[in-house]
This record gives sequence, C-alpha cells and structure tokens, in this order.
Amino acid sequence: MAGRYEEEFIDPERPGGRNPLRPALARLAKEGLRSVADLGCGTGALLPFLAEHFREVYAVDFAEGMLTRARASCQGQRNIRFVQSAMRDVASRVEAVEVAVAVNSLIMADLDDLEASLSAIHDLLRPGGIFLGVVPAMDSVHYHTMLLLDRARQTGMPQSPARKNAALHAEHELFEFAFSEFRYRNLVQHFWQPFEVPYRLRRAGFKRTRVRKVLLSWDQVSRGNDLADYPPLWDWFFQAEKSEAATDR
Ligand SMILES: C[S@@+](CC[C@H](N)C(=O)[O-])C[C@H]1O[C@@H](n2cnc3c(N)ncnc32)[C@H](O)[C@@H]1O
Repeated sequence: MAGRYEEEFIDPERPGGRNPLRPALARLAKEGLRSVADLGCGTGALLPFLAEHFREVYAVDFAEGMLTRARASCQGQRNIRFVQSAMRDVASRVEAVEVAVAVNSLIMADLDDLEASLSAIHDLLRPGGIFLGVVPAMDSVHYHTMLLLDRARQTGMPQSPARKNAALHAEHELFEFAFSEFRYRNLVQHFWQPFEVPYRLRRAGFKRTRVRKVLLSWDQVSRGNDLADYPPLWDWFFQAEKSEAATDR
C-alpha cells in the first residue's frame, strides 16, 4: 500500500476535522516526557512533529515500503531511529519509551496478533508511561448509514431502495459488521467499537483509559457534501497509562 497510501486511507489529520492527538502529545512533551515510539508509522506523517517535541523518536513499521517513504520524508531529522518490526515483537526490538503512539495501525484482524501487539506495547512502555492511539470506528459506519438512509427517504424513496442506496454509498460490501472487519483489496482490517477500546486496553494491563472522538472532515467521504450539515464521522482517539507500580523490563 505504501506507493498509493494517500489514495487509500481516510486521513484523521486532514484540515476540517478535529484530532486531539497532537495537542495531547505536545502536553506530554511539555510535562517532560522525552522518548516516543510511533508504532505502525506508515509514510511518517507524524514523525516530524514527534521529532520536534521529543528527544528520542522510534519509527516502527513492519512494511519496508512504508519505512522507505518515512525515511525520505524525515531527512535531516537526526533524532529518529527507524526499526522494521511487527508490533508484537516491538518490546524486544526497541528501547523502553515513555510514550507510545499508534495511529490507525491497531487494525490486525487476527485477535491473537492484536492482543499480542497491545501486550508488547505495554511491555515497551516504562512504568507510568502513556499510550496514545487512534483506531477506526465501526459505529461511525453505522451513523453514516443512518444519515444516508434518511437522506434518501427524504427524497421520497421507499425504505428498501433507500437501504440499497445507503449500502452502496457507505460501501457495505467491504464490511463484516458483526465482527467489525473492513475488507479491501487483500487487506482485512479490524474496526473498533467504543466499548472495545477500554476493554482491550485493560486486558493488556493498561489503566485509566480515556476515549474521545477524532472528527473527520466530510470532504473525504462518499456523498459527504450532502451530509455536511450533520456532525461528522469519526475515528476513536484514546489515551491510557501503564501503572507506575508495573515492573520495568
Ligand atoms: C493505516 S496505516 C497508518 C500509518 C500512520 N500511522 C498514519 O497515521 O499515517 C497502518 C500502518 O501500520 C502498519 N502496520 C499494520 N500492522 C502492523 C503490525 N502488526 N506491525 C507493524 N506495523 C503494522 C502498516 O504497515 C501501515 O504502515
């Protein structure tokens, strides 16, 4: 996906949206936290910001093509180390850090892999360390569907064709709703329910999870302009902590 990344993914950083991630990272840096790992860094969109705010930055991805693009976009930034690693192995590949961040990269459809990755992130953090992330929201697709359905009904369309119309524009053929999966090309990605975020983070050992919406700009969405009077779609942002009492590795 590295070569056509921008065409394929909705960007939570796009102007017109609202993303609590960078303000939260800036606050942590201001409080004196010095080291950060960007897990699933992709083409490196967040890396220049991290390099500016933190002394030590690790850019981790399992895809060499992504790391090549990330390296190219960060030339001249001397405090970034690039590491090719699967997230589940990260604790043995990267020095312990005070902050870990994962933006739309906790999308493993294999739940063993997802849980192993969350545990590895917990292990990677120093005691008292902070984990921030953004995950794609399953409930946002249901909300989009509701708006599309009502938009069609308001034009006088009967419910059955209005449902077909909503399913088309919300791309239902790409989703497996019961188990929260998005299937596109050869990739299967896990989408998250809001109740799942604190649940899975707690199972991995994190505490004090807070969840907030990342608001996505309507101009990235099919029929978005028609719906722009309504509150926008979202991803889920979270911030969680590793206990101070947890043992260092
Ligand atoms: C949707 S992209 C997001 C990239 C970047 N964080 C951003 O916001 O632009 C997901 C990234 O996570 C990486 N990724 C997915 N699963 C991974 C895993 N198990 N271990 C390491 N990297 C992974 C992919 O290679 C890809 O670069």
